[in-house]
Amino acid sequence: MPSRRRILQAACAVLPAGLLSAAVRAADNPVNHRPIPSTGEMLPTVGMGTADTFDVNPQGAEMATLEDVLKRLIAGAGRNAVVDTAPSYGQAEAVTGALLARLGARDGIFLATKISTTGREAALRQVHNSQAMLKSQRLDLIQVHNLIDTVNQLALLRELKQQGVTRYVGITHYTESAQDELTRLVEREKPDFVQINLSVTDRGAEQRLLPACQAHGVAVLINRPFRDGALFRQVRDKTLPGWAAEIDCTSWAQLFLKFIVGHPAVTSVIPATSKPANMADNLLAGRGRLPDAAMRKRIADLFT
Ligand SMILES: NC(=O)c1ccc[n+]([C@@H]2O[C@H](COP(=O)([O-])OP(=O)(O)OC[C@H]3O[C@@H](n4cnc5c(N)ncnc54)[C@H](OP(=O)(O)O)[C@@H]3O)[C@@H](O)[C@H]2O)c1
Repeated sequence: MPSRRRILQAACAVLPAGLLSAAVRAADNPVNHRPIPSTGEMLPTVGMGTADTFDVNPQGAEMATLEDVLKRLIAGAGRNAVVDTAPSYGQAEAVTGALLARLGARDGIFLATKISTTGREAALRQVHNSQAMLKSQRLDLIQVHNLIDTVNQLALLRELKQQGVTRYVGITHYTESAQDELTRLVEREKPDFVQINLSVTDRGAEQRLLPACQAHGVAVLINRPFRDGALFRQVRDKTLPGWAAEIDCTSWAQLFLKFIVGHPAVTSVIPATSKPANMADNLLAGRGRLPDAAMRKRIADLFT
């Protein structure tokens, strides 16, 4: 069971006193889940990315703090929270693998990584290396990173799925310029997952890509939900609107994330953080009421 006490302890560290009672109410709500369309398996709507934040020395002092980040994710989101990494994220796979082993937590999370190379042999080497770094023979999701050699690598990933190396296959990108190509691939290749960018200021995916994912039964992970942190600089001098409480939000981070998971095509959002208190804050967006279309517009209008 996700620990309400741990979430609240961390929320106390980031929230002003006036918002704490609202955070207490939010933490009382159960974790929200969405199904993976191809199987019905349920995922919590808030998971975690590891780009930059988990790229640290696996023997270094930051490991203790990142262990706490991961512990909070596991305690706060419950079973199957998505942890997304990649071979191209420096030490992130090694750090993720070491911490999951230390916590004995591999089986409780939904572990996603990527292939980011051309050609079959290089891709197989990368997958074997990911298995070693992550200390996990079986991966939950392997994605073709940034549309590199997509059709060939998707075919390879389907073979690996047959062999039980991965349970799902996916494709990723992080810019709106790639979304027409992603839409074509969703329609033609029907991967299990697409991972793309969406935020209060980047709504391009809502035009064609997210409806295509819904129509073809493709699960959606959302990256760069905070535009790599830039959204927090935009609200530095702004007060959170009072109506954020109508969807149980007590921070800008929660409002940004609920804007995303309020879209019905979205399965899970994967914000990255190096701080336990920010992890706890983000996890509160995985509970309580979600915005409808009108409320999502109201949120986005704050940034136009
Ligand atoms: N092509 C691809 O496949 C692709 C591309 C980009 C990203 N991704 C995936 O998506 C994940 C997320 O995207 P991202 O890493 O680009 O950035 P992001 O999640 O949009 O933003 C991360 C930044 O937000 C800050 N932050 C997090 N929670 C916060 C909170 N509650 N309050 C204040 N600041 C907060 C973090 O700083 P602190 O550390 O100080 O909390 C960090 O600087 C990546 O880690 C990766 O797994 C995939």
